[in-house]
Parts: sequence; structure tokens; C-alpha cells
Amino acid sequence: MIRISNLIFEYTDGEEKNRVLNGIDLTIREGESIGLMGPNGSGKTTLARCLNGLLLPTEGEVFVDDMNTNEAARISEIRRLVGMVFQNPENQIVSTTVEREIAFGLENLGVDYEQMHEIVDKMLEQFDLQKYRNHPPHLLSGGEMQRLALASVMAMSPRYLIFDEPTSLLDLASRKSLLSIISEFYEEKRTGDKSKISTLFITQYPEETLTFDRLLVLNQGQIVLDDKPAVIFQKVEELKDIGLEVPAEFEVNHYLKKLSDGKLSLNTSDFLPIP
Ligand SMILES: Nc1ncnc2c1ncn2[C@@H]1O[C@H](COP(=O)(O)OP(=O)(O)O)[C@@H](O)[C@H]1O
Ligand SMILES: [Mg+2]
Repeated sequence: MIRISNLIFEYTDGEEKNRVLNGIDLTIREGESIGLMGPNGSGKTTLARCLNGLLLPTEGEVFVDDMNTNEAARISEIRRLVGMVFQNPENQIVSTTVEREIAFGLENLGVDYEQMHEIVDKMLEQFDLQKYRNHPPHLLSGGEMQRLALASVMAMSPRYLIFDEPTSLLDLASRKSLLSIISEFYEEKRTGDKSKISTLFITQYPEETLTFDRLLVLNQGQIVLDDKPAVIFQKVEELKDIGLEVPAEFEVNHYLKKLSDGKLSLNTSDFLPIP
């Protein structure tokens, strides 16, 4: 479980303080899948970085399985438990081949040679990267590179996975392929096979969050909504007011209902595809 209590985070620049997270209380339970949306600059990335101790709270606390991210002695264990996948995988990749990239974190953990090979082979297979085993990572496509970033994180058997807009630089086909791999984790979870992995998935695409257990909406450093995605997306106007999109189906439903309730009048020109 990750438990955040009254988290306040300020960036400081000399005398100047910029409060970006303003009193976050949040629990991420075992096996939970959670989406996180919020307008640009609302503090999503800052929150993500607080979860594995890349950033430390200005006030309040973050506990990962009862380890406080403020305890320096626990930070490497926390980093192993909380895997991060970022928007731009290139910034995350450090090795000269795909295989070495997956092995990198395991080497650092001191995993023995045989076990390391076993894990690397498994990851190459699971993420459909076998044919690139000896390729330099920078020759991969954006989608393949993102799969490699995820494979490298998964090799460490994290308990929590934090995705910070991993699909935002991908084309539609690569987005689909990444999302289908990620949803396999939940499938395994549901069928009880394996991991109790918990995910926090930050995205600007509302439809990507529909299958999650919960959706959080962050605005100006505070969690303003926390509910099932299908419940949150009923609040079309509230979401639009803070600058968020809702899946098209919810939007159409909302306006059709208003129309039939006589609360909205439209004229034909509203439907013409001219801006
Ligand atoms: N390294 C940094 N130093 C100073 N200010 C930052 C830094 N990173 C982000 N900020 C500021 O914090 C606010 C929230 O940023 P961020 O957490 O990246 O939001 P989001 O991911 O929701 O777009 C923004 O106003 C941004 O300018
Ligand atoms: Mg961000």
C-alpha cells in the first residue's frame, strides 16, 4: 500500500516558493488500478515523483509499504518497489543494447547471472522484443522504446507502477499495443494468477482510464474528484471547466439528455463540421 498524508510540495527558486501540491491525501491499495488526470501544470508529474522519493515532501508524508520516503536508508528499496515509466522513454534508457537495458537494473541489484538471464528472456518475450535483443535501443520506434522502458521496470518485480503520460508521444497503433500489454497485468490480476501490482496511470486521454478501478482528478495541486471513471465522466461540465476532456460517448449523452430535458437548445448549424 502507498499512503500519502497531507502532502505539500513546493519548488523553491531562491526566496521564491511555488506550491504545486497542496494537501494531498491518497491511498493506493494492493492491486488497484488508478487513472490520474489533470490540466497542464496541475502537479501530476510532481505527485508521481513524490511516490518513489525522486522528490521529497515539503510537508506531510509518503509511505510505501510503511517505509517513509524521507528515510534515506530506505530509498533504494522504495525505488525498486515503485517503478516509473515516463512520457519520453529516451530519457530513461542508458544501455547500448535492448538486452543490456533490461539487465541493467538487475545487475545493480546484484542478481546472479543465471537468474538475470532467465528474467531478461522472459521480459523480451512478454514485451515482444526478442528480435531486437542485440539492437541499440535508440534505433527502436517510439512504441518499441516505451515497451523496453516498461520491460526494464518490470524486470525488477515492482509492486507499484507509475506511468506518467506514457502514450502521449505515441501514434495510435503504438498506444493500443502498449495499453493492451498493460491491461494484461490487470487480466492476470483478475484471474488471480499473479501479481498484486498496483498502477497509477497519468494520461491526457480520458478513454484510456475507463477500465481502471478509480480515477483521480487533480486541479491546482489538489485531488478534486476520486471515484469510478464512469461516475466521474458524468460530470461533463465540471471537467470541461477545469480544462479536461471526457470520452466522446459521455459528452454526447450529456448534451442529448440536456436537450431532451429542455435545458438546451441547439440549432442545426451547431452540428455542421465547420469550426
Ligand atoms: N523542476 C521544477 N522546478 C520548478 N518548478 C517546476 C519544476 N517542475 C515543475 N514545476 C512547476 O510545477 C507546476 C506543476 O508541474 P507538473 O508537476 O509538471 O505538472 P503536470 O505534470 O500536471 O503538467 C508547474 O507550474 C511547473 O511549472
Ligand atoms: Mg506532467
